[in-house]
Formats: sequence, structure tokens, C-alpha cells
Amino acid sequence: MTVLLTGGMGRSAKPLAERLHAANIPFLIANRSGVVPEPFRDRGVQFDWLDSSTYRLPFEADKSIDRVYLIAPSSGDPIPPMKAFIDFAIQQGVKRFVLMSAAPAPIGGPMMGKVHEYLDSLGVEYCALRPSWFFENLVFSLAAWIREHNEIANAVKSGKIGWISNEDIADVAFKALTDSAIEHNNPIMVGPELLTFAQIADLFTDILGRKIAYREVTPTESKEIILKQGRTEEFAEMKSKLEGLLAEGLEERCYYQADFVGKRTMREFIEERKAAWEVGHA
Ligand SMILES: NC(=O)c1ccc[n+]([C@@H]2O[C@H](COP(=O)([O-])OP(=O)(O)OC[C@H]3O[C@@H](n4cnc5c(N)ncnc54)[C@H](OP(=O)(O)O)[C@@H]3O)[C@@H](O)[C@H]2O)c1
Repeated sequence: MTVLLTGGMGRSAKPLAERLHAANIPFLIANRSGVVPEPFRDRGVQFDWLDSSTYRLPFEADKSIDRVYLIAPSSGDPIPPMKAFIDFAIQQGVKRFVLMSAAPAPIGGPMMGKVHEYLDSLGVEYCALRPSWFFENLVFSLAAWIREHNEIANAVKSGKIGWISNEDIADVAFKALTDSAIEHNNPIMVGPELLTFAQIADLFTDILGRKIAYREVTPTESKEIILKQGRTEEFAEMKSKLEGLLAEGLEERCYYQADFVGKRTMREFIEERKAAWEVGHA
């Protein structure tokens, strides 16, 4: 048995690689360069969702791959390449897939809901993980702004999110990849608390010992702030629209349907990653 992790050293695949490593389970880490840092250096394999000539490379590197963790490519329409690779992987002997989907994406719904539906139609073993927002998003999207402006500004307003730790997600993903049978093939996953951004700002204030304010803005203003942080127009458009949906309770509704509730808290995460909010590295 060998597990192929797509999603490189990303937020979701990295803690999963750590668990496989600790359990001595063979695995490969696929990303576009094929280069991964220690202690996984010898596990890296080149793979690009958008270049089908690379699909064979992981299977040439290890003939025992029979399970795959699926993280969508970060650009372009993910559905055609993901279906093509799933077909190819099954031909190479893969029996089980664990897909990173999202809490508000039911089977057949947009984006990963379509890949979930495809896996279901193939009669393979699969698990579509449906987590709420990752704690790690705070590092990616808020850390620099908090350092420079002592505030969080977005259009989520009083919308609540069941934030979840990537460590808790990795615990579930690890079991789905390695258990003899998959316990739940479609778990909605949240953390222990439903939090507004104003509550998160209060946690920052308490932990950092300086006032971090929460400022409500319109989706248009939020888009401008996201662009000022150097993100692409496409990303800023998507994110500011999503904030409007969060304000209307998109993630809060998922919280009340959760199949799995993580243990790690937002306070623990902010404390652990203090350097990200204070000096700019996590
Ligand atoms: N963030 C959230 O709150 C949240 C919540 C629920 C679900 N999700 C879902 O989680 C997924 C993202 O997972 P993540 O946060 O772990 O991703 P991530 O941290 O952005 O990492 C994605 C990795 O995939 C690799 N990659 C990107 N494009 C690729 C390509 N064309 N071919 C091969 N590898 C490629 C990149 O590695 P290289 O650059 O080294 O190639 C990157 O490290 C998305 O589908 C998202 O919808 C996210």
C-alpha cells in the first residue's frame, strides 16, 4: 500500500504527510516541482493537474500506489483534469480516493460537489471530506493586514463560521485513507466553536495584548482590500462574493449539520502561530 498525496505541502496535505510519516505508511507527495522539504525530501514527485503527461510519474515512482488524496489544482476549471486523473489512477490500480471538498458543497453541487458525484458514480471506495473554513486561512489572508493595520476588515459582518484546525481535518483524512473500511464517506466537519470575525478580533486583542478591531465593510470595499494585499482580481472577486454568502449564514447552517466536531480551538491556534501576527513568519 502506498498513498499518493496531491496538494503538495499545502495547508491540508502537510499535516496528513506528518501522520503518514509517523505511522510508517509509504506515501508520495505530488506537486508541480517534485521538490518537497525535509523530512519528506525523498517523497516528492512531479505532478501537474493541468499537464496530463505528468499523471504517470507518481505511478512510475511507486508501483504500489492504491490510495490517493485529492486536492484540486489552484487555478483553472478543476473538474476536467480531476476526472481525467481519477480515471487514469483507477487504471493504475487505485482503489480508494479521499477528496477535499467543502462543507457547503453537497454531492452534485458546484466545484468539488461535481468531483464527489463522479467518484460516487464509479463504484470506487471514497470519502469526500466537507470541512468548514481552515484556521490556516487566517495566516494566509489576515496576518499581514493585522500586523500593519491592527484590524480585520471584511464583509462577513455578523456571519459565523465553524472554523476547523487542519490538524483535526488531517486526523479524519488519515483514518479515511488507512482504515480497513471508510467510516463515513461524506462528513461535514467543523471545529468546536462557531465564531464571528468580531469574536476572532477579540481573541487577537487578548492574546497579542494590543487592540485588534473588527471593521465591517461592503463586498466592494472588501474586494479593494483584498487587491491591496496583492491577490489577483479573480481571487478578490470570488472571496468578496463569498463573504456576502457567509454574512447570510452559509457556513453557520453547515455547523448545525456537522458529522465531525474537531477539538482544537481558535485560541490555541492563534497562540501557537503568534509569530505570524507579530513578525511575519508562522
Ligand atoms: N481554505 C479553506 O478554508 C477551505 C475550506 C474547505 C475546503 N477547502 C478546499 O481545500 C482545497 C485547498 O486545499 P489546501 O488549502 O491544502 O491548498 P493549498 O494550501 O493552496 O495547497 C495546494 C497545493 O496544491 C499544489 N498545486 C496547486 N496547483 C497545482 C497543479 N496544477 N498541479 C499540481 N499541484 C498543484 C500546490 O503546490 P505547488 O505550488 O508546490 O505545486 C499547493 O501547495 C480547495 O479545494 C478548497 O476548496 C478549503
